[in-house]
Amino acid sequence: MTARLSTIARSLGGSSVVESRRRADALAERGVRILDLGAGEPDFEAPAPVVEAAVRALRDGCGQYVDPRGLVALRERIASFETMRHGHAVTPDRVVVTAGSFCALSIAARAILDPGDEVLIPEPFWGPYRNIVQMAGGVAVAVPGEADDGRFVFRPEALAERVTERTRAIVINTPNNPTGRVLSAAELRAVADLATAHDLWIVADEVYSELVFGDAVHRSVATLGPEVADRTIVVNSMSKTFAMTGWRLGYCVARPDAAVVLARLNHYTVRCATSFVQHAAVAAFDEGWQAVEEMRQSYRRRGALVAERLARLPGVRFAPPEGTFYAFPLLPEAWGDGTAFAARLLEEAGILASPGAAYGASARGHLRFSFATAPAVIAEAFDRIERLVAAG
Ligand SMILES: Cc1ncc(COP(=O)(O)O)c(C=O)c1O
Repeated sequence: MTARLSTIARSLGGSSVVESRRRADALAERGVRILDLGAGEPDFEAPAPVVEAAVRALRDGCGQYVDPRGLVALRERIASFETMRHGHAVTPDRVVVTAGSFCALSIAARAILDPGDEVLIPEPFWGPYRNIVQMAGGVAVAVPGEADDGRFVFRPEALAERVTERTRAIVINTPNNPTGRVLSAAELRAVADLATAHDLWIVADEVYSELVFGDAVHRSVATLGPEVADRTIVVNSMSKTFAMTGWRLGYCVARPDAAVVLARLNHYTVRCATSFVQHAAVAAFDEGWQAVEEMRQSYRRRGALVAERLARLPGVRFAPPEGTFYAFPLLPEAWGDGTAFAARLLEEAGILASPGAAYGASARGHLRFSFATAPAVIAEAFDRIERLVAAG
């Protein structure tokens, strides 16, 4: 007999995105030059003042535990950022600083779910939502999406059809990974109305809030009024905005009584987010914005390059990304589904991209290309794709 792992732990599936990365690493070890359009993180380093502040904090002896809610100075910065940038009144007592938005989402799930409670997640969605809900004992209900000419349409009526007595929450992610879509005010209103009608939570993942292009405007569902804000847990992080993925710093914004519970869950999970990184994050909010704007402009140009190259591929349908650093085209049927084509891309052309099925069954015909990489890599990857497709 061997000691048994828990039912929840055993139910967690592995990540197909991690699998393809391992396969790419194995090919790279055999000498294949991999062009990486799979990365879900910025290819920039954190802004210089942030690095300086982290080093200074360490030298100044700021390495102790801090309040599980986070440093007061940081919660103040986050509160004023959310108030000024995203337009909903946030006070520091609504903010809990966490170890990245992974941790923020995990404690949010544990704060609102009892065993067997259901969470609606519209496809296509970032895969870990499903696992995070499962880890909290909940049931992730994937709501199939529909693409119109390659562009996923947000369908509140599909969400409404899946509401049951056990439904507790809806997850929305705007700007969206993987589609690059930004939800409009009307789409957010539809989510808010549904949540209000059924007394549900809204978990609003806004980690790409600062990465929007052209006419697109990021709106937080929490701006739709205090009664909506009070049933919303906004999740954001330093990862994408400030190119700080490995630093592990994020936060939740929730109504004060929920924030107290979230802080307790944070405490019993990680005790507190890393103290000196919190000092660095204060510097990011104070001095990091010029770097953020430069990175955003760079993603915008790279997104335009990807769109231009996708438009040259016969039969590929897509919507130019409105935000994030992803494009999510629908492939022609003749190429096989996204999983088959992604495998071919890797094996025959040395290109890493993420198959649509990783984001929900209704996205299986799509492929996610990340453009958080150098324009020369993007150009070479699309040259290789053109040759592969032309060879049949
Ligand atoms: C939509 C979305 N949410 C959350 C995360 C997690 O980010 P972090 O924990 O680094 O804040 C990611 C990372 O790829 C993401 O794409």
